[in-house]
Amino acid sequence: MSHKIRVFATCDIGRDALDILRQKGYGLEVYPEPEAPPKSLIVEKVKSGIDGLITTLRDPIDAEIFAAGQGTLKVVAQYAVGFDNINRADANKYRIPFTNTPDVLTEATAEFAFFLMGALARKIWPAEHLTRENRWGYWHPYLPFLGDEVTGKTVAVIGTGRIGLAFIKKCAGFDMNILCFDPAYQNHDYIRAIQEVKDLRFQRGISRERATIRYTSLNEALSNADFVSIHVPLLREGESETPTYHLINEKTLRTMKPTAMIINTSRGPVVDEVALARALRENWIAGAALDVYAKEPLPADSPLRDPSIADRCRLLPHFASAARITRLSSDPNKGMAGRCVQGLIDVLEGNHGGDVTKMPYVVNKEAFAK
Ligand code: GLV
Ligand code: GLV
Repeated sequence: MSHKIRVFATCDIGRDALDILRQKGYGLEVYPEPEAPPKSLIVEKVKSGIDGLITTLRDPIDAEIFAAGQGTLKVVAQYAVGFDNINRADANKYRIPFTNTPDVLTEATAEFAFFLMGALARKIWPAEHLTRENRWGYWHPYLPFLGDEVTGKTVAVIGTGRIGLAFIKKCAGFDMNILCFDPAYQNHDYIRAIQEVKDLRFQRGISRERATIRYTSLNEALSNADFVSIHVPLLREGESETPTYHLINEKTLRTMKPTAMIINTSRGPVVDEVALARALRENWIAGAALDVYAKEPLPADSPLRDPSIADRCRLLPHFASAARITRLSSDPNKGMAGRCVQGLIDVLEGNHGGDVTKMPYVVNKEAFAK
């Protein structure tokens, strides 16, 4: 008798994608609550002998889980591009592959970062509050406040992976000068191509001034930028030669211009929130727009909620990829749900000749290299 494949999903990732697993005859159990299940429940499910585990960024996946699945658990399929909640060394120790959902959320996340930058700079939130609270007493050239343009300004892009490059592409459309920094990965071809696009726009009279793009040091990027947007993965001390934990801290915030604004759509712990709240309170910098936090959901007592900085601190609920097609499409080339399920199927059904190192969505290929 052939073994029936069993999968546990810690979260409902949408019916269309899950139906693909049901149609294959897999035994599928989905945790029914909107909140993350307790870790003990995940351990229990894994111990019961499931073949595949679908996780989100809310689930801590470490040696305890992998040990519980020793000999039975074949794959962890993460519904996210980031996988800092999964202990890679532990996955490798137990030789269990895990997958993620890159590419399909790149443009959605990059455009959200761009929109946050614009909303912050043009003071959309305080301006709407003014209107709604009936404090719009007159039209005036500069009262009660002005915003700042994005067009033609200088933006520092910290992290030039897929999302950082997509963000650069959007900034190029706004004739921004772009300073790139990446501690680990540079894509000079892409940056050259963007410069060519900028040059063409200038030559053909589409842009009034010639904008530039180049790689530089973190210090130079931060000290010259009007806007700083962060697109690095979270890597803690010991996980990488170039850790990104608290990359933005008191020292780096102090190198920014007092008129500068920072946008974070990557991972919360890349920014020291206590230092950032202080930087906003004491006007070392002019604004911040955050989508991610050290602790999520954002705690009620977070210093970022200080009402005295509310006009210059936008707080969003880890929402950058939260667009319909990006989140739910069952097409692995369009949606996180489709890509998550495809990554799971690739491992469980031995696609790509059963060679884990050839499966496109497997992250920890190093554990399987011969
Ligand atoms: C969301 O934060 C993701 O990593 O996909
Ligand atoms: C994530 O997809 C990144 O490379 O920025």
